[in-house]
Amino acid sequence: MFSESAELYDLIYSFKDYPAEAARVRELVMAAGGPGEGTLLDVACGTGMHLRSLRAHYAAEGTDLDEGLLAIARERLPDVPLHRADMRDFDLGRRFGVVTCLFSAIGYVRTPDGLRAAIGCMARHLEPGGALAVEPWFTPDAISDGFVGVNTQTLPDLTVVRMSHTRIEGTVSAIDFEYLVGRPSGITRAAERHEMGLFTRGEMRAAFEAAGLRTTFDEQGITGRGMWVGIREM
Ligand SMILES: C[S@@+](CC[C@H](N)C(=O)[O-])C[C@H]1O[C@@H](n2cnc3c(N)ncnc32)[C@H](O)[C@@H]1O
Repeated sequence: MFSESAELYDLIYSFKDYPAEAARVRELVMAAGGPGEGTLLDVACGTGMHLRSLRAHYAAEGTDLDEGLLAIARERLPDVPLHRADMRDFDLGRRFGVVTCLFSAIGYVRTPDGLRAAIGCMARHLEPGGALAVEPWFTPDAISDGFVGVNTQTLPDLTVVRMSHTRIEGTVSAIDFEYLVGRPSGITRAAERHEMGLFTRGEMRAAFEAAGLRTTFDEQGITGRGMWVGIREM
């Protein structure tokens, strides 16, 4: 997935306001009846940017599948427990007051079976009364086949241009990324393919409800993509 881009991740997404997003996640969790303090697990935490803010309110931990991204998170947050784990099948042996899965990471599970497994697994890590907050990827009707995007970021000694092309393949969005990375030593190229499942709202709600969660959806969420919040009944 991020094999070519882990070290570029924070620069590529430097336009995101992670502290504001983290504050908004907490507000949405509390609005749904979940805890505003206590313990939190950020699943698919990437480089730990949300954890950096969320740990002001919660005893926080993170998981991710990608070792390269986790290494950056470990450097950023040396005192935060971070675990390598696949969100579809993990057991930390503990429960948390809040579990989050942000920036559409849920899409990477690709299939409805993967979605049910991931939501079920995250829900099993909730204390009674705890909240699961999941920021979804696009629904099938909200994504454009053939979409081309470009993201350019520049530092004094590093320029990154990332172009993406999205193709819809059944119920999956296949995104080809091409990177041009400019340094004083020259320009290098890299490519990655990311495949993300396009889940309907019905599929998302059904996965939350099958996991035994009382479920609400906020249309806006933290970045305009919406936010699912499920509360594990007492
Ligand atoms: C778009 S990034 C979001 C990262 C972070 N939440 C953020 O907001 O910056 C998607 C993340 O999902 C992770 N990921 C993808 N598939 C995963 C899986 N099956 N289990 C756990 N993490 C996964 C990737 O490694 C990556 O960190």
